[in-house]
Amino acid sequence: MYPFDIQKNKPKGFPSLKKEPVFNPNIDLQLEKPEKIQNLKELGYSNKELKNLSTQFAFSSPTRILSKEGIAKLYEVVKLLEPYAKSSERIPRMVRGGVYQSKFLRDFSLSEDITKFFSEITNLELQPHTIPHQLGHINYNPLKKGINIDKWHTDTLRYDYVLFVTDPNKVVGGEFEYFLGTKKQIEKIHAKGVKIPSKKIISIKPPAPGYAIFLHGNMVVHRAKGIVSDGERITLVNGYVAKDMVKNPDFTNFEESYLTEPKHVGTSEFAKHTALIAREHLNRCINDVEFSEDRDKYIKELDSTSKILTEAIKKIKKVGIKAKSKHFGD
Ligand SMILES: [Fe+2]
Repeated sequence: MYPFDIQKNKPKGFPSLKKEPVFNPNIDLQLEKPEKIQNLKELGYSNKELKNLSTQFAFSSPTRILSKEGIAKLYEVVKLLEPYAKSSERIPRMVRGGVYQSKFLRDFSLSEDITKFFSEITNLELQPHTIPHQLGHINYNPLKKGINIDKWHTDTLRYDYVLFVTDPNKVVGGEFEYFLGTKKQIEKIHAKGVKIPSKKIISIKPPAPGYAIFLHGNMVVHRAKGIVSDGERITLVNGYVAKDMVKNPDFTNFEESYLTEPKHVGTSEFAKHTALIAREHLNRCINDVEFSEDRDKYIKELDSTSKILTEAIKKIKKVGIKAKSKHFGD
């Protein structure tokens, strides 16, 4: 169950859709295991770089998650939300925070069946992301042909899937692409201003709408190419965090979220998310730590919560001064 009611005290500026389809997991889902999974070592990450990660999972091949009925309903919802599309430095047309507006999107993004399905694939127990703007993000193709949907980047969160809502084979272009390398390697390429070698790029087009690619978003460098024909290219990105927030340290690029979200949303959601992580640490201290003479044991427990709060406060204080979007260009 999601740790709070997304609809309660929702932010201003996110009107609810008046009429929309109803999500029915029994009809709308079609969960089929991916044929292939790659890990971060295969991308060139060293043991040292992977030391503190909870999973070495990198990305899956396209895997079916929605049935024909499900994809038809989701398409209807994303079209109802399209008038609310905004742009950021990286993405020309997107809707974030749709879970505040659409019950279908909320129910779909929080689906327990999908969460369990991807937990098995990544070998890590997941839960839907506790920052609502990281749920059900929608990318629409730019209105001008040839402009990329999203530049080369890593994500502002650890885990997410990219779901094709429209048929990728009905348009020319619009591929989802990975860089077969590490973040350090792309940083060097970008700093030199040279092109990424084509043998280092994997270009993917799923066979049909309803297929998703799950990825370790903050470790795998990726982009979404623009379409060069008429037609539509719409994808939905849904985010996750580890269920055990104590054992699995959080990664949130608050600076990027602060630049992207409306000003009354970014900090509020990040503060709430931080409070949830801190609460998990305190719950552990209250419920799971044994009575002991060892004072250090309790200092360590309380300090872990204190550090989480202090770090978040530092980020919030600093962000207004020098916030800058980070990506690796087109
Ligand atoms: Fe991404």
